[in-house]
Amino acid sequence: MKLYKIGYSKINNKGLFANKDIKKGTRIINYVGKIITKKETERNPKFDNNKAIYLYNLNNRYDLDGNFSYNTARLINHSCDPNCEVDGKGLKLWISSIKDIKQGEELSYDYGFGYDEDYKQFPCKCGAMNCCGYIVREGSRWRINKKFRKRTSK
Ligand SMILES: C[S@@+](CC[C@H](N)C(=O)[O-])C[C@H]1O[C@@H](n2cnc3c(N)ncnc32)[C@H](O)[C@@H]1O
Ligand SMILES: [Zn+2]
Repeated sequence: MKLYKIGYSKINNKGLFANKDIKKGTRIINYVGKIITKKETERNPKFDNNKAIYLYNLNNRYDLDGNFSYNTARLINHSCDPNCEVDGKGLKLWISSIKDIKQGEELSYDYGFGYDEDYKQFPCKCGAMNCCGYIVREGSRWRINKKFRKRTSK
């Protein structure tokens, strides 16, 4: 039995949902696609910011184009309070749970988008208590609102 199923999401269009209770630290599904250079990403209208984006940032030079029907993990939405993360090395990527997840809960991870001049093009509808309003990675959310700044004890 698969750990996930496709469904309609309150966040955006389709999403993936837990098909049964999932323990923290479980590898749920592979994220697969085709490797492309960031130059191609910038040139190709398929990756316009005003369309749904199915891209995974591999490193400074390469992205993984995940926009293929065989990549079911492409349907996972972003949340500012995610229950999953992407882990793995190179092209062997897994979506793994970082919390215990109850059957029926939507799976989500932090898309890790940087904070740049385009951030307002990606409003976030995750509905989490700590949502900063935009799809921006956790470590950069304080740039949008200082309340997200992490205090470090001295
Ligand atoms: C990889 S797709 C996720 C699957 C998408 N919901 C679908 O039905 O195809 C990424 C796109 O989903 C939407 N999305 C994902 N997370 C979102 C969020 N937290 N708030 C608003 N839109 C989101 C954005 O349009 C984003 O470009
Ligand atoms: Zn959010």
